[in-house]
Amino acid sequence: MERKKVYVGMSADMIHPGHLNIIHEAMKLGSVTVGVLTDAAIASYKRLPYLTYEQRAEIVSNIKGVDRVVPQTTLDYVPNLLELRPDYVVHGDDWKEGVQQKTRQRIIDVMKEWGGQVIDIPYTHGISSTAMNQRLKEIGTTPEVRMKRLRRLIGAKKIVRILESHSGLTGLIIENTSVMINGKKEEFDGMWASSLTDSTSKGKPDIEAVDITTRLHDLNDALEVTTKPIIFDGDTGGKVEHFVFTVRTLERLGISAVIIEDKVGLKQNSLFGTDAVQTQDTIEGFCAKIKAGKNAQITDDFMIIARVESLIAGKPVEDALERAHAYVSAGADGIMIHSKNKDGMDIKEFCERFRESDVSTPIVAVPTTYNQFTEDELAGWGINVVIYANHLLRAAYPAMVECAKSILTHRRSLEASDQYCMPIKEILTLIPGSKK
Ligand code: SPV
Ligand code: MG
Repeated sequence: MERKKVYVGMSADMIHPGHLNIIHEAMKLGSVTVGVLTDAAIASYKRLPYLTYEQRAEIVSNIKGVDRVVPQTTLDYVPNLLELRPDYVVHGDDWKEGVQQKTRQRIIDVMKEWGGQVIDIPYTHGISSTAMNQRLKEIGTTPEVRMKRLRRLIGAKKIVRILESHSGLTGLIIENTSVMINGKKEEFDGMWASSLTDSTSKGKPDIEAVDITTRLHDLNDALEVTTKPIIFDGDTGGKVEHFVFTVRTLERLGISAVIIEDKVGLKQNSLFGTDAVQTQDTIEGFCAKIKAGKNAQITDDFMIIARVESLIAGKPVEDALERAHAYVSAGADGIMIHSKNKDGMDIKEFCERFRESDVSTPIVAVPTTYNQFTEDELAGWGINVVIYANHLLRAAYPAMVECAKSILTHRRSLEASDQYCMPIKEILTLIPGSKK
């Protein structure tokens, strides 16, 4: 008699006895196919897994009782089920509650067509992937794992969401803040080491006056307490002869990408637009810098992203497109297109036209002025990475000024504490490990 077909879907990032139990029960029913969720399927509802799809598939295919591994490319089981038409789908019974209820019901409904059944296995208590995840976060990461993560995220997600960090504390906010929306955990994918907020938090102007060594020294605070990837704002990249050293240093630290802008001379913040003198490099000059950087890097993972400042300098979209294609030909791993226009239409036009001849090079956007567009809309234009470039610092500064004014006004801190400050008890225990 032909063996019955059994299907099990899993992420299999951290295999524990609970998974083995499910497979053990599944193999009693017939021949087991495991659908291992791809990075994209997992990233559609939670954090990217630690291991790549290939690594996870290899582990699962070596578990006793697994006959076959197939990719499950969506959170939804149905496409794989329609293809395999299994007799059973086996899952832990925890999915009878919470957000997974709907997934389960949909599987039951679809399998009715060929008389397939859902089998719920009693959940293995005392083991929680969430708790294991938390422990892993506490253990931290390695430079190599952190660096690779950005490329994986770009490959797996419709749009990668990055927020500015200028300290260990802001790094922690980005690492740990999440909200649940329709059963989906929303969080930031990584950090932007902004030259504007790095300089501003030191009371210095954003003109490359804070040198790279100082910025990297301080970035170490965030590196120590986080695991998420970091994109470094490399300003102009400086002299070619210096840029090659910056690339090596960033790579060694496990930074995923550096973005350099095609400007020469005294760099001033882009958001001044044409109010400040912004001199663009020649295409040849900037391509030479990109090439030198690409030659200097040791791994294949580190990314050099070229930032096109044409729109900032008041030039047309054509100029931006010509430069972007030339920078990609010179080896750039991505293009950041920047503008200070409020309607965003120049960015939209750039992205759509760029995509006509280049469908794969990642596009990075910094929608500080055109902030009315949602991430979904930006992704629809062809943008792969969105950077919220200065928001944590901009939120903190006015709150601090109000607090300072309140103390001056009232000649005591009662009002300021009540209105602007977090409770002392909270600040004392804010940082994990503060109290033993
Ligand atoms: C930064 O955050 O430092 C940037 C983006 O480079 S912008 O300030 O818009 O130029
Ligand atoms: Mg900057």
